[in-house]
Amino acid sequence: VSKLLKAKPIVRILKKQLSSDISEMKERPYLVVFLVGEHPPSLIYTQKKKIFCEEVGARCDIIHLPANIEQHAFNAKLSAFAKDSNVHGILVQLPLPKQLDPNAINEIIPYEKDVDGFHPQNIFRLFNGSKDFYHISCTPWGILKLLESYNISVPGKNVCIIGRSSIVGKPLALLLTQHNATVTLCHSQTQNIQKHSQIADIIIVAVGKKHFLDKTYLNSDKKQIIIDVGINQCATNGLTGDVAPECIDECLQITPVPGGVGPMTIAGVVHNLIRAALHQKGL
Ligand code: GUN
Repeated sequence: VSKLLKAKPIVRILKKQLSSDISEMKERPYLVVFLVGEHPPSLIYTQKKKIFCEEVGARCDIIHLPANIEQHAFNAKLSAFAKDSNVHGILVQLPLPKQLDPNAINEIIPYEKDVDGFHPQNIFRLFNGSKDFYHISCTPWGILKLLESYNISVPGKNVCIIGRSSIVGKPLALLLTQHNATVTLCHSQTQNIQKHSQIADIIIVAVGKKHFLDKTYLNSDKKQIIIDVGINQCATNGLTGDVAPECIDECLQITPVPGGVGPMTIAGVVHNLIRAALHQKGL
């Protein structure tokens, strides 16, 4: 088994499948990405989404709005694209400037076009394990795909998720529960997180703190799998994850940062975009 769970070989295969799916479609799937302000990571992520779309033959436009845009002007822009039947997927890159209410997005983007999977209808269908059409949020989807692709079985496993964000921790807990894992969702108020993480088969860290997870969180078996969702700016060497480097020698397999969960998330956006486009054509 390879120690590093790299996204690259999986994304290469996914890109082939996605390109092939798109080449069979009459109309190119079209994603509109809203970017508000100049938050540096958001500038990078939105650009990566656009590049990925174009590499597989989808269309993507980034609507870049000023940081001080008012709610009514923002809503009006979003509404225009939400109603446009040529647009199959829309996402608003988070975080938003303080004057904008992130919940307003869900009132405007219909759930079919919500490729982020944040709309209440999408969350509810994930909650219910619905058979009807819905979008799974991209990071949870990407993590599950990564595990599947490396033949890491989920049913019956003890999974410890650290971090309860609406973007990662909470939807991931629902998705892994749906896939028959036994999920423990830890957070900043959890007492003795180590007690939970040490008995886990899979530890997923999404707290946004550089090198949060050190070897005290692991047991001594060296059989644990670590998924590092963190992307923290590091003054000395670029991007770094939520997992301390000392953990590499103490686990069975671990995702690198960069090159692990990040690219899988972007693949998830385009996966959802294609499904959105097919669904909107009644396919
Ligand atoms: N910011 C960080 N992660 C995400 C994501 O998955 N979607 C959006 N829209 N913004 C983000």
